[in-house]
Parts: sequence; C-alpha cells; structure tokens
Amino acid sequence: MGLIPNDVIQQVIERSDIVEIIGNYTALKKAGRNFKALCPFHNEKTPSFVVNPDKQIFHCFGCGAGGNAVGFIMRQERLEFPEAVRVLAQKCGVEIPETQAAPSSPSRELKEEILKINAQAAAFFHDMLLGSRKDDAKAARDYLRGRGVNLETARKFQLGFAPDEWDALLKYLRSKSISEELIAKAGLIVAREGKSGHYDRFRNRIVFPIADVQNRCVAFGARAMTDSDGAKYINSPETPVYTKGRHMFGLQLTRASVGKLDKIIVVEGYMDMIMPYIHGVENIAASLGTALTADQIRLVRRYTPNVVMLFDADAAGQAAMVRSLDLLIDEGMDVRVATLPEGQDPDSFILSQGLEAFSARIDGAVSLLDFKFSWLSAQHDPATVEGKSKISRELLATIARFKSEVAKYELTKVLAQKLNVPEGILLKQADGQQRVPVNTTKAAVEARPPASIEGAQELLLALFLKDHAWVKAAKEKIGPEDFSEGLIRRITEVMWPLAEEKEEWSVNDLLVRLQEQTAQSLVTGLIDVEEKKLGDPALVFQDCVGKMRREKQKKARAQLVEAIRQAEAVKDTEKLDQLRQEFNQLLQ
Ligand code: UTP
Ligand code: MN
Repeated sequence: MGLIPNDVIQQVIERSDIVEIIGNYTALKKAGRNFKALCPFHNEKTPSFVVNPDKQIFHCFGCGAGGNAVGFIMRQERLEFPEAVRVLAQKCGVEIPETQAAPSSPSRELKEEILKINAQAAAFFHDMLLGSRKDDAKAARDYLRGRGVNLETARKFQLGFAPDEWDALLKYLRSKSISEELIAKAGLIVAREGKSGHYDRFRNRIVFPIADVQNRCVAFGARAMTDSDGAKYINSPETPVYTKGRHMFGLQLTRASVGKLDKIIVVEGYMDMIMPYIHGVENIAASLGTALTADQIRLVRRYTPNVVMLFDADAAGQAAMVRSLDLLIDEGMDVRVATLPEGQDPDSFILSQGLEAFSARIDGAVSLLDFKFSWLSAQHDPATVEGKSKISRELLATIARFKSEVAKYELTKVLAQKLNVPEGILLKQADGQQRVPVNTTKAAVEARPPASIEGAQELLLALFLKDHAWVKAAKEKIGPEDFSEGLIRRITEVMWPLAEEKEEWSVNDLLVRLQEQTAQSLVTGLIDVEEKKLGDPALVFQDCVGKMRREKQKKARAQLVEAIRQAEAVKDTEKLDQLRQEFNQLLQ
C-alpha cells in the first residue's frame, strides 16, 4: 500500500465529521456540547462513550478507547491506519493520489467489488419484480400481495424476484463486464457439477436483500413461492463481505429508532421483521433463523442494551430463544421474553391481530427467569423433588452468569419462591455448583496500573494538551528522553516537534501524527483529565517537572555510583577523580 501524504490525511480529517461517522455505527445522544453513546468497543449498560464535536475526538471512560475519526474506523472496522484513512477519504470525497504501483490490500478491494456486484444484483432482482411483464414475475407480485406486502414495502426493502431461468442474473452481470469469477465469489452463482461454467443460485424465488447497518447489501435470502419448491429459503453462502450471524436483518432501517426508544424487539425471520415494521413497529430486527450470536448481540448493543425476544411459538423457535438467553446475559444485556399464541409467528400475529395486540404482547414480556422457569416447568414437574432439582440446577447455572452479585442473590431468592424451597438451600447449591466463566472484557485486560512517576508525566501531558504554552516551558527544563520509555515518551517525541512547527496546533494534528491506537486513547483520555484532575496549572507543572528532574538526577547518580564502583575495582585513579567531581556537582 502506498504511503498517503500527510496533507491528504489532514484534508480527510478536516472534511469528515466525527459525529456523522460514529453516528453511522452507534446511536448518539446529545449531552451538553458533546454526544454520548453506548461504547461499541466494550460491554456496558450506561453510556460512557463520549464524542466531542469541537475537538473531533471520541473517548470512552469505560474501556479507555479513544482517538479521532481515523482511530474510530481503525477500531471499528479492524483496519490499519492507511486503510482507515482510505475508507474515510471515500466517504468524504477526498482523492488519494496513488504513489507508484501501490494497490490497496487485495481483500479490501475484493470486498468493495463484491459489495458493488451485490448492489447491482439487488437492483436487477428488484427490477424483475416490479418491471417484468413475464408470467412468473406476476406470480411473484401476486404472492407478495397475498402476504400483505404492497408496492411501498417492496420498495422500502428493495425486495426482488429471481426469474425462473438458469442464468438470468449471470447474463445480466456479464453484460456489465463483470467476470464470472467475481460473481461466483459474491455467492450469486453456483459451479456446474462435472462441467465448466455456473448457474444462478437463486431461481424462481422472492429475493430479500440483507444489508449491513450502513445499508450496503451484503447477502441475499430467497424464498420459494410454493411449499413444494425445495428449501423454503435459500441464502447466500459466506463471502468476503458476509459472515453468517454477524448481521441483523432490517437493523439498517430501524437502528435510529432502536436507539431513541432504547429497546429492540428481536424476531427470527424476514417476514417477522417486515410485517410489524410496516404496521408501525419501529424498533425491530431479525436474527435470521437461528439463535442470536455474540456478534449479533454486540451489534445490537451499540444501540441499546434492552432486548425483547419474540421468537416463533413453536419448539424450534423456543429452543433457539433459550440458547440465545445465556449469551445475552454474558454480554450484559437486559432481556425480556414476549410470547405468542401457539402456532403463530410475529408476521402472522400482527396480520391477524393488529398493532395494538402486538404491542400488548411486547409490553407483557416477562423476565428471563420467569420465561426460563415456565419453559423448564413444561419439561420437568416443579412439584416433584426430581423436577425441583433439575430446574434449580439449570436456572442456578443461568443465574451464575449475571455479573452483579446483587442480581444473583435477588434472582436466587425469586427462584426459591417459585420452587417453594428455602432460599438458603439454593444459595448453598449455587456455591457448590461450578461457576461458568464469564467473558472478560478487553477493557479489564488493558487497564493500566497507576504508577506515580508515570502519573506525574501523564498529568504533564494533560497540561501540554490544555495549554500549548506549557510545552515551551517544559522544553527548557527537560527533554523527551526524560519521559519514561513507552507511550508517554512516544507522544512527547511527536508533540514537541509539532509545537515547534506550528504555533497553533490541535489535538487532531497530534493524533494524525501518532496513528498508534493506544497512544491515541491515552491522549483523548488525558484531554478529559483537564477539567477534573488538573488543579492550578503552575503548581502541577512545577510538581511534575520537579519530580521528573529529581528522577533524572537519581538515575544519573545511580549511573555515576556504578561507574565509580567499576573505576575503583580497576583502580583507575584518574577516572575516579573525574567521576567524584561529577558526583559532587550533581549534589549541588
Ligand atoms: P421460518 O421457517 O419460521 O420461516 O424460519 P418464516 O420466517 O416464518 O418465513 P415465512 O413466513 O414462511 O415466509 C425463520 C427464518 O429462518 C431462516 C429464514 O431467515 C427465516 O426467515 N430459514 C428458514 C432459512 O434460512 N432457511 C429455511 O429453509 C428456513
Ligand atoms: Mn412466517
């Protein structure tokens, strides 16, 4: 990858707005001059992630992550610095001059190409559904109308129709000069068995494009129009842009409302999301067929920690839901469970009963413990000793997953009541039962232990960031080499020349030159320090610089003492004299 010139990086930062960029990934709420959100990088229930529009930086007080717009994209999309700059450049329309023959990373380029092909395929299917005069397209329109999907809805979700032909899409994409190899990589065609060439994966089916939260088409699901036509749904295979269990169907349309209402309704299927949505349920998304995955839960958590699970009222649906619950607890989510009458799913229920009945079901959602207790009670009779013991064992294991000791205790008490046994017995059983290890968050692992000299240096850095005049003052007394080795020194090594170069420099000027994520986080963390810990700047300066100079002298003395010892050992009297003189000078 070619180097990106500094002025271009600068231009990208200046042109992009961090609020808009982060707002694409997580719901931001105004809080004074800043914006707050649930941190996308660690597990939390109350927002400690702050975006500062004036300084164009973000920082999370929970896990310590911080930086500028580039730093955010690096973390979020797991990209290296230059790749993240390229992503932003594309968003804000800055052209990056290619130095020499320096192609960007092949996987990134491939992803971009596949996303483009998917978009073209979605447009093709959509056009087939709405525009084609063919009989099979008419049958598709009739099918959707029969399920209560009108034109507006079809447009909103860009629903489509894959014609009843072997190569309709393949031909279309080839006519756009797209190689067969790429179309295959996008998962849209399947290799012929025993012969060369490919045929369309989706044929004679209703097509549901699956988008990521940035509304890019990453995959497709395709439904047969009759029961006899093979699998009910055929979905895209995994591709460079699509990993199963990473996305939530419909979330690109509902994420803003999910954030605003601070609650999400999670359903299983395509139609289970679409029908309630068009009836006015704004905070809903679908997991697409299986239990929720940890990736999906983390995606949801960017917008809200409050989940109402609404799965099909059949055995498969309930089992998928139970499997989701433990993971939801592990990820620190607040879960409630809504149920439907036997044999119904959210789609059929809202069609037959309407929005009010649907909302009543959501409002009537029960706690996770209540739900799991009834679910287990249907399998084991809680009136019998054996039932009590089976149910208590399962539920205590679930309760053990909660992080808060208070929550564990309270839930155990509730369980004791339900089972009609003394709570002491359950508490004892819980103690004896093996604990399920709970995910340790990255934040806890990365936390820095406080150290006094480093603490002083950090404070000094905070001072530099608050008022650049202090950099000049410090330069007269200490040098970057006097800072402890590591992050703080590296930051100083970048900051001092910057202060030399520019009279007026911003945090972002510094962050652009730093690039390193941990260094960025430290800087944004220190900017917050300014309001809280910094007392009288002059005193802080004196204190910190004093500490560092004393430290410097201590080190120098230690080195001298060591040198003197060595000179004594070899009886080098001349050297000894010189060293003793130096030592006396140091003491003055
Ligand atoms: P369901 O069997 O409950 O279907 O599967 P549904 O969503 O109610 O579909 P309709 O209403 O009959 O059209 C739930 C979800 O599981 C996935 C799909 O995402 C579906 O929406 N699924 C199901 C598949 O991927 N393949 C299948 O063959 C069946
Ligand atoms: Mn259904």
